[in-house]
Amino acid sequence: MKKIAVLGYGVVGSGVVELFYRNQKKIENNTGEKLEIGYILDLREFPGDPYEDRVVHDIQVILDDPDVGYVAECMGGTNPAFDFVCRCLEAGKSVATSNKQLVAEKGDILLQTAKENNVNFFFEASVGGAIPIIRPLHTCLAANDISAIAGILNGTTNFILEKMFCDKMRFKPALELAQEKGYAERDPSADIDGGDACRKVCILSSLVFGKHVYPEQVYTKGIRDITLEDVQLAQQFGGAVKLIGRVVRLKNGKILPSVMPMIVFHDSSLLASVNGVFNAVMVWGDGVDKTMFYGRGAGKLPTASAVLGDIVDEVKQTGTVLSQMWKPAQEGDDFIATIDDFEAPRCYRTSPCGKGVFARIAAEVGVELIHAAENGCMISKCNQKTAEAFKQKLAHEGAEILSRIPVMED
Ligand code: HSE
Repeated sequence: MKKIAVLGYGVVGSGVVELFYRNQKKIENNTGEKLEIGYILDLREFPGDPYEDRVVHDIQVILDDPDVGYVAECMGGTNPAFDFVCRCLEAGKSVATSNKQLVAEKGDILLQTAKENNVNFFFEASVGGAIPIIRPLHTCLAANDISAIAGILNGTTNFILEKMFCDKMRFKPALELAQEKGYAERDPSADIDGGDACRKVCILSSLVFGKHVYPEQVYTKGIRDITLEDVQLAQQFGGAVKLIGRVVRLKNGKILPSVMPMIVFHDSSLLASVNGVFNAVMVWGDGVDKTMFYGRGAGKLPTASAVLGDIVDEVKQTGTVLSQMWKPAQEGDDFIATIDDFEAPRCYRTSPCGKGVFARIAAEVGVELIHAAENGCMISKCNQKTAEAFKQKLAHEGAEILSRIPVMED
């Protein structure tokens, strides 16, 4: 019999314990091993909890027990999670984590530590909650040259944008509703300023392109400045504003990881129909063309499902799975493009200035006018320089530029 230790008995940790005992027989049949939750590490006591007898407060108890083969890290943050996970790996225990901050900031070190100790550090739950995306990327899609990944990676912002789109709510009340429903944190800045999606982009980029991409290398812009009027202009043109996390390999071979609000069109992108707190990830590969993964991106049991799925896989592995590794980025590495290399169609929202003005300026800067209304337009794909020139010329005509949102092409 092997023991599982759960680090952190909050929402996800308690979900891991609940789902394990709900489906213990099935999990044991799947792995061919007798398994038990041996310990739950938390600073708190849980009087009356059915598993209160497993609660310990000292990581050393877990490290010293040779029967603990697997650890579910559900604490969040990097301190003390990084130290605890390192020590578990060094003690020969495989770790599964839901902690995106830990993987985005320290994944390269932890993967190396796992390799040195011939165990596994898995993190399916860190991106997209319940959605299988990490394992498909390095198993089912392994025969592809992957050129891009893009998705809705944050449920809170997707809920807010949907409320603006469907119920004409303004940003602030939509955020308050998300907080009321428990989706957004009390301090929701990691959601609405894009930090949460940024960490997920780091993890996907590192895995697919083989070198660690750190949060500060990802161009990150959240939805704080998106107004109801922006959403309505996109709607008028047939699209929806979504917070898109993505990484694209450019023609020069560099990758461009980003998080930003983008407009996706209902007639060309399935992402436009992803609503509420759901997440979706699209992957482009030379074999598959494009494929999409969809599901619940957060929550107790959906996240626990991914953590336990990792543990089931760890039980079945006999050594480190090398395909789920990436290298640390070296100083001087030059594989990440800057936002200056970003090209996309754009939507501009302006003070009322007339469709004719948009058409004339589009022709002057050499882009196509795709959509036009009295208070805004959409122009065809262009680089940052042309997008800026278009904006300057509009301003020169006396138009006030109220927003500029790029459009995602599938
Ligand atoms: N706050 C996150 C979200 C939780 O809304 O998607 C999962 O990372």
